[in-house]
Amino acid sequence: MTARCNVVVLISGSGSNLQALIDSTRSDDNPARIRAVISNRGDAYGLTRAQNAGIATQVLDHKAFDGREAFDAALIEAIDTFSPHLVVLAGFMRILTPTFVRHYAGRLLNIHPSLLPLYKGLHTHQRALEAGDAEHGCSVHFVTEELDGGPLVVQAIVPVQAGDTPESLAMRVHAQEHRIYPLAVRWFAEGRLCLGEHGAMLDGQPLPATGYLIRT
Ligand code: GRF
Repeated sequence: MTARCNVVVLISGSGSNLQALIDSTRSDDNPARIRAVISNRGDAYGLTRAQNAGIATQVLDHKAFDGREAFDAALIEAIDTFSPHLVVLAGFMRILTPTFVRHYAGRLLNIHPSLLPLYKGLHTHQRALEAGDAEHGCSVHFVTEELDGGPLVVQAIVPVQAGDTPESLAMRVHAQEHRIYPLAVRWFAEGRLCLGEHGAMLDGQPLPATGYLIRT
């Protein structure tokens, strides 16, 4: 059997991606094991999801720290208690310091609700609609020092429909997030996915610049 892959998930909110990861890592043939969920907000519903699944939780309130560096140093200390092979950002609404990102180089994943490199940052669904895009979607990527800019692992393309609102589009994109994040985490846990010198690699082959593409 493949060795277990310890995963720590960072959240700030609802944690629906966390839930998808919890569900996908229940099966014995998935080597990923979520060892802890850490939130910077005490009221994040994702904490309840983790507790319901018997996963250790911790709250580290960024407001209690004197600046980003101090918070990130405490965060690293908290995360490393769980000896993670992989750290997963699942709606963690904090910009991370270069020190943090470098500490987890090659073992830090994020999910973003757009077809990166389009629409880095917030309000992605509204921006895609305003631009009149025919297609929108979501991306999983390795985290580097460039915000929402690291090598892409997988993208799901979601066609925009006539009459879509930011909310209706967000719902369909979210459903795809719940599909591609567990996929990427599983690939990593199985040793199939890694960050090479020139970008993300799957099964020893470089992935295209878009990552692995899924059309829905
Ligand atoms: C998702 O849209 C994700 O792409 C973004 O934050 C949101 C988190 O949603 N990074 P949830 O907390 O997983 O429901």
